[in-house]
Amino acid sequence: MCGIVGYLGEKNAENTLLEGLKRLEYRGYDSAGIAIIKNGKVTSRKAVGKIVNLEKKINGKNMDAGIGISHTRWATHGKPTEENAHPHLSCDGNIAVVHNGIIENYQALREELKKKGHKFVSETDSEVLAHLIEEFYKNDFKRAVCEALKLVEGTYGIAVIAGDKPQEIIVARKGSPLVLGIGENENFVASDVAAILGYTKQVVYLNDGEIAKITKNNFEITDLDEKKIDSEISEIEWSLEESQKGGHDHFMLKEIMEQPKVIVDSTRGRLMPDEGTVRLGGLEAVEEKLRKIERIIILACGTARYAGLVGEYMMEEYAEIPVEVEFASEFRYRKPILDERTAVIAISQSGETADTLAAIREAKRKGALTLGIVNVVGSTIARETDAGVYNHAGPEIAVASTKAFTSQLIVLTLMTVLLGRQRKMSEVTGRRIIEEIEKLPKKIEKILGAKDDIKKLAKKYADYPNFMYLGRKYCFPLAEEGALKLKEISYIHSEGFAAGEMKHGSIALIDEDFPVFAIAPKDSVYEKNISNIEEIRARMGKIIILTTEGNKEAEKIADDVIYIPKTLEMLTPILGVVPLQLFAYYISCFRGLDVDKPRNLAKSVTVE
Ligand code: F6R
Repeated sequence: MCGIVGYLGEKNAENTLLEGLKRLEYRGYDSAGIAIIKNGKVTSRKAVGKIVNLEKKINGKNMDAGIGISHTRWATHGKPTEENAHPHLSCDGNIAVVHNGIIENYQALREELKKKGHKFVSETDSEVLAHLIEEFYKNDFKRAVCEALKLVEGTYGIAVIAGDKPQEIIVARKGSPLVLGIGENENFVASDVAAILGYTKQVVYLNDGEIAKITKNNFEITDLDEKKIDSEISEIEWSLEESQKGGHDHFMLKEIMEQPKVIVDSTRGRLMPDEGTVRLGGLEAVEEKLRKIERIIILACGTARYAGLVGEYMMEEYAEIPVEVEFASEFRYRKPILDERTAVIAISQSGETADTLAAIREAKRKGALTLGIVNVVGSTIARETDAGVYNHAGPEIAVASTKAFTSQLIVLTLMTVLLGRQRKMSEVTGRRIIEEIEKLPKKIEKILGAKDDIKKLAKKYADYPNFMYLGRKYCFPLAEEGALKLKEISYIHSEGFAAGEMKHGSIALIDEDFPVFAIAPKDSVYEKNISNIEEIRARMGKIIILTTEGNKEAEKIADDVIYIPKTLEMLTPILGVVPLQLFAYYISCFRGLDVDKPRNLAKSVTVE
């Protein structure tokens, strides 16, 4: 979604900002813009489409400024045009604003400002901010921003500059992430650490309701009444290399290939094989509370929710705790029944998904213990939950989530062992699960080693307009995840179903042009799966079966077979998802699509 980068220091601001914006490209956007201050005057440039278009506009007219703000916009109010692109300027051109989030009362504010003579040039909600700040600006710039924000309803992460204040950037946050990057004789602001990772690893995360004045050598955080707030500088763990492609054609392939390492990273220091249990530092403070919980609700969106569904099966089977998995976007609009014996687990790669965040806040209000499974360290969900476990999967740049999913499954397995061992799970069972986790990296490497076979298969199926994915028990959520991966990056219509449910309607879709991807490892529901596959075969459907190594029977009933190594049933999705990711990846490549940045999608969805 929209991205913000701001810079103040001795480097060339235009180049630094363009570099930062490029690092945010993965988030998805449809226009970009920049505003700098030179000789006390704000100059802004904008372009529709890719950042190279903006770069072309700046080339040859680079003013070598020392201060500026910039933005990538993902259209919400108004089409992706230059007028609607940020930064937005005040009538006198002195003030420039970039904004992430949604101003809910912008229509009313706009009407009032128009009455006062302000001229609007865009259709956006964001433009009201520039005019509102102009309205309040006498000589105290920060005060004017505070006063303006007090009138605003909705969410914002903003960066603002004024031509007559060339030494400062004002930034503020409510519901949309912002981080300050602290350098030497220079400071940064960004909506995502990826933008500033190449320049500094020292950061300060802004909280909701905070506003900061940044100068070259200083930053000062207050609330909107200008009451000082103490802040903490944190160190980013990720390196710049980790956030680059590392020789692969796409981030998505790089991230798929990283999965063996991700398993090692997300389990490092956490496994205690001798005692058949795990140590999760982030949950230690609430371990006693966890012992007493009687129910778990998992809240997440998209791929993270599918990980949650696998977690539900695991926790019910091995920890014997009732678990429900909810769409985070629905949760607060129902009447959730929660108490202090309920633990709510939010799963989120970015830690910034607006729906998941809103759901977790609602759960907190209702007195539940809130836990996070989050990849981005210091993100809002990580900070707002009572306790949690980081994935340690490293930065995930491709819009389609891959390694974050596997790491979410790993963390859910670890939590299952922890909760299970607090209850009835025996040491032997705990040890068995841990031993199998330790074998996963090698098994994933084996699957990745056969990626060219999946590439061939992808070529064969790349032109089909529809796909159905089927699975049962632990592999039912995997069917949904496989279908989501395919549809989001190849634009092929695909649906994932619980295999047993298919004959209650969806089987009507099946004919020779509607292939089925059946996930049928040799597990406790294998025979049931085979019956469903036979039903499809009888209707002439093409069938790909994903099954366990050595299962030659599959070759007799399927058009194509993909094999994965054997593991515990509960861990099968961690292996099974890898061929599904590769299949979707190669189909997208064969269809000539933008794999890492599929149309209409954004990496982190920070609006409802
Ligand atoms: C799909 C995908 C999305 C995200 C969802 C939640 O590949 O990436 O479905 O899983 O938007 O995002 P996070 O995990 O950041 O909360």
